[in-house]
Amino acid sequence: MTTPQQHIGSGFSARSTAEDVLEGIDLTGKVAVVTGGYSGLGLETTRALAAAGARVVVPARRPDTARAALEKIAGTEVDELDLADLDSVRAFADRFLATGRPVDLLIGNAGIMACPETRVGPGWEAQFATNHLGHFALANRLWPALADGGARVVSVSSVGHRRSGIRWDDVHFEHGYDKWAAYGQAKTANVLFAVHLDAVAQGSGVRAFAVHPGGILTPLQRHLAREEMVAAGWVDADGNALSPDFKSPEQGAATQVWAATSPRLDGSGGVYCEDCEVAVPGSGDSPTGVRAHATDPEQAARLWELSARLTGVDAFAV
Ligand SMILES: NC(=O)c1ccc[n+]([C@@H]2O[C@H](COP(=O)([O-])OP(=O)(O)OC[C@H]3O[C@@H](n4cnc5c(N)ncnc54)[C@H](OP(=O)(O)O)[C@@H]3O)[C@@H](O)[C@H]2O)c1
Repeated sequence: MTTPQQHIGSGFSARSTAEDVLEGIDLTGKVAVVTGGYSGLGLETTRALAAAGARVVVPARRPDTARAALEKIAGTEVDELDLADLDSVRAFADRFLATGRPVDLLIGNAGIMACPETRVGPGWEAQFATNHLGHFALANRLWPALADGGARVVSVSSVGHRRSGIRWDDVHFEHGYDKWAAYGQAKTANVLFAVHLDAVAQGSGVRAFAVHPGGILTPLQRHLAREEMVAAGWVDADGNALSPDFKSPEQGAATQVWAATSPRLDGSGGVYCEDCEVAVPGSGDSPTGVRAHATDPEQAARLWELSARLTGVDAFAV
């Protein structure tokens, strides 16, 4: 059944933290996989899920850095994963499946933003490949464990999805690169992925959500020059945050943790959430709301087909 994009009165807000949304929720015995769970929002997500009792597996592009970041957080473990390398995705999934554990929560949090034109694998645009195709392959390869756990899958998108729909005629920007359009396309893909996964997986008890975490200063902005962030009104010349709308990392992690665990979302799925709520449709330059190009089921199915063809994996192929 389709869940409408409308507020459900969650009782939480943009200022709620990951710890707030987990109050009274016991995750003992649950297994969570959090990509990028050792930096920025991912680190706070890992910290909160582990504090609530979950075993948190953090597949990392830089395992040593991840181990150092998670050293003091009990209940976590690090493995190796480069989302831009499909062999690495397959190897991680095979190692995980060999443990025989289910996945109760999968949070596709890792991502890159507005990098200079970069090609990975067979010449794929890096933001689409890392943010979307890598997570697509990961979820499909982990499918037996997701189904076993009746998992919630959370695809971390961004309000940046408003910058571009899927560029069906040039998905890899072979005819002119625009770093923000590429981020926008990748973040639209994150939403469409959740829409279609939810449609095909809910019969197996697996539900999927997409989220916008809010605006948070993290290492994600590493590819932006200070001048660009000043011009956008995000920071002053010394790099201090200017907008009162910026969230702390603990607040930024809240929506993905809420989507992964809230009992209020039982029986729901395939929706985009923000500020610990199901979002409403948005348009134009509004900094909130989900754009229609990201929730269209036909485009979601078309993207699934393309992604399956590119990555060579589809857990739902008939
Ligand atoms: N911060 C914001 O304002 C904001 C707003 C909207 C959406 N988001 C989304 O929130 C998510 C988390 O962002 P963040 O702000 O926490 O950024 P972050 O601190 O830079 O964390 C991103 C994580 O992704 C990992 N990663 C990057 N490329 C990877 C690859 N090829 N394979 C595996 N892991 C990879 C990074 O690993 P390394 O550290 O090893 O590079 C890092 O752990 C992203 O999906 C982002 O698009 C953030």
